[in-house]
Amino acid sequence: MKLNLKIWRQQNAGTEGKVVDYMLDDVSPDMSFLEMLDILNEKLIVKGDEPVAFDHDCREGICGACSLMINGVPHGPEKATTTCQLHMRKFHDGEEITIEPWRANAFPVIKDLVVDRSSFDRIIQKGGFISASTGNAPDGNAIPISKIDADLAMDNAACIGCGACVAACKNGSASLFVSAKVAHLGYLPQGQPERFRRVIAMVDQMDTEGFGSCSNTYDCEAACPKGISVRNIARMNRDYLKANLFGV
Ligand code: FES
Repeated sequence: MKLNLKIWRQQNAGTEGKVVDYMLDDVSPDMSFLEMLDILNEKLIVKGDEPVAFDHDCREGICGACSLMINGVPHGPEKATTTCQLHMRKFHDGEEITIEPWRANAFPVIKDLVVDRSSFDRIIQKGGFISASTGNAPDGNAIPISKIDADLAMDNAACIGCGACVAACKNGSASLFVSAKVAHLGYLPQGQPERFRRVIAMVDQMDTEGFGSCSNTYDCEAACPKGISVRNIARMNRDYLKANLFGV
């Protein structure tokens, strides 16, 4: 395949960026999207040019590092798929592909396609944990948890914190991310003692970081590579309201 890549290049957070065109030949349809960028970078290095900076770690769809806006869609055209799991067979020979970093005030660009997502870390530090003493690993059935709650907790624990929800949202809201983190602990008995304190602390930190508000457009759910449901946002808002009303 031959591709016309239009890639956002930006030296650092303090400089202006621009889209730069690259023609790339001999792209195998079996390559992943990141492998295609690796090939581009090898060619740039051989030519003495600076390679394109992009983020990645596991390349298995589990770490959430590989966050690219591909043709205006977070993680590209394949539903429920991270950029590292996207293959070039989803594109056609001669296609023009625009590649940009996440766009959100709370995710400033560090370089090229890499953004600073430490705002997510600070939200997690405010409440994405339980401090109940759990002792040694208990017997599997020692704390009865209904199948429904266990499944809901696991579904929400699938959030990899990639930030696609923020990038997709016209308000730059992190509500889907925060609500998944609130829910995956809040559905379990161990998460109950801090349930209401947690939701206040995490939502307040989300606001402090400069993320926008949710206005129910559901673009976040459509963009999420792990299929996190927007129903969590309603649950988070209910908990936040209860916590404030009853002074928890
Ligand atoms: S590199 Fe880890 S999810 Fe893509």
